[in-house]
Amino acid sequence: STRQTLVMGNWKLNGSKAMVAKLINALQTAATQHPAVAVAVCPPVLFLGQAQALLTDSPIALGAQDVDIHNEGAFTGENSAVMYTEFGVQYVLVGHSERRTLHGESNAMVAAKFATVQNAGLTPVLCIGETLAQFEANETQAVVERQLQEVISHCGIESFAKAVIAYEPVWAIGTGKTATPEIAQNVHAAIRTFLASLDATVAAKVQILYGGSVKGASAAGLFAMADIDGALVGGAALQADEFAAIISAG
Ligand code: G3H
Repeated sequence: STRQTLVMGNWKLNGSKAMVAKLINALQTAATQHPAVAVAVCPPVLFLGQAQALLTDSPIALGAQDVDIHNEGAFTGENSAVMYTEFGVQYVLVGHSERRTLHGESNAMVAAKFATVQNAGLTPVLCIGETLAQFEANETQAVVERQLQEVISHCGIESFAKAVIAYEPVWAIGTGKTATPEIAQNVHAAIRTFLASLDATVAAKVQILYGGSVKGASAAGLFAMADIDGALVGGAALQADEFAAIISAG
């Protein structure tokens, strides 16, 4: 695509101090060798401080996997966007399908998180995508438009000037079943057309990442598509050589 490629690793609930040090050190080389590609990693919050220290003067950006809608207060167990700013965090995932499914997050809750992230000066990565049943019922476009519309109604179309979208078909997450570049491109183009009906400039600029079983071998085919601007990588982001291969494809 004509937009900068962004390769983001979502480590989910994985890692240890030793693993963080090893993985980040290994990725520094790949990121430095491909300065045109933007690279980010989202470790579990417990490791953000360690990652921030390791990433001093690094081209690799830091992301967080979720956020609370409050900046402080009596919200046991939560983490805030304002706190993230002290740890060098630039991106925050909102609405990942695992949060929607396992933690009951509604489109309204996701939109509120999106706003909280932007209010703290950080970049939300809005995760959207349909389930297998919705895919088989040809509801993909309706589902992703509903997920986008809630954020548009709450934050305005212009909020996408400072946001990233990650299209992740739920049936492709952790299943080894990557969407074909054609299937993904069709949905990405539909997302961009939907946004363009409201603001063509914003739609042309927003990065739309694909997520769902992306590997080194499948990345280049996805990145060759006109509306695929990078990847949100789960499993393969935990292996330095696979993640480096995805960066090289960018
Ligand atoms: O956030 C990442 C996605 O859930 C993709 O995960 O690459 O393990 O399928 P996966």
